[in-house]
Amino acid sequence: MSTAIEKTVGEIAAANPASVRVFEKHGIDYCCGGKISLSDACLGRGIEPQALLREIDQDSLPASESSADWQSAPLDRLIDHILTRHHAYLKSELPRLARLSAKVNAAHAERHSATLVPLEGIFLALKAELESHLMKEEMVLFPVIRNLELAAQAGGAAPAAHCGSVNNPIRVMEHEHDSAGQALAYMRQLTGGYTPPADGCNTFRALYYGLQELEADLHQHIHLENNILFPRAARLESAAA
Ligand SMILES: [Fe+2]
Ligand SMILES: [Fe+2]
Repeated sequence: MSTAIEKTVGEIAAANPASVRVFEKHGIDYCCGGKISLSDACLGRGIEPQALLREIDQDSLPASESSADWQSAPLDRLIDHILTRHHAYLKSELPRLARLSAKVNAAHAERHSATLVPLEGIFLALKAELESHLMKEEMVLFPVIRNLELAAQAGGAAPAAHCGSVNNPIRVMEHEHDSAGQALAYMRQLTGGYTPPADGCNTFRALYYGLQELEADLHQHIHLENNILFPRAARLESAAA
């Protein structure tokens, strides 16, 4: 542990891109001012270096899905899981990645415009699409599914929803998932599998790391909806008909 404390903030950020979120949270400059040791960076901020290291370790744990069996858990619980795990993640991560992307573009556009300009364009379009997508799920589809389940538990059919069959909003959401998947694939292709250039600074690396995490999280998120939540909701509706 003491070795890690003596490493510079920049070295830690470079070796472990997940640490930048913790540094950002505590206002520690890991990029231009990253040449100071972790213990020096903690001095004067009232942060205990060992506690900061533990926080970095926690943040670096691989994202693992809860072990719940979503094929049999109540849909209400699955929706809560999607909201707290995946929607909340997107709501904090999309604006953070937009800020990082703007910062990287400002610093590196001259040498890397062929990648960075289209990358930012695709990312910002994806961000706008996802923000509207989350709202539609939260305001329309998820309440309909919760009602279907409540009605099934009470032994009756759910009251007719404004959107008609649950399959209507599901089709729209699946179409938007396909579009998000295409944007992710294009971003991966543009960045050579999120490989930062040799002259890329820590912010550049943090952007690529964040986009890669976004990809993994969205894949898991879309899997839970397309492959589990939506088919179970459709079956629930047809069983009640
Ligand atoms: Fe969702
Ligand atoms: Fe979705």
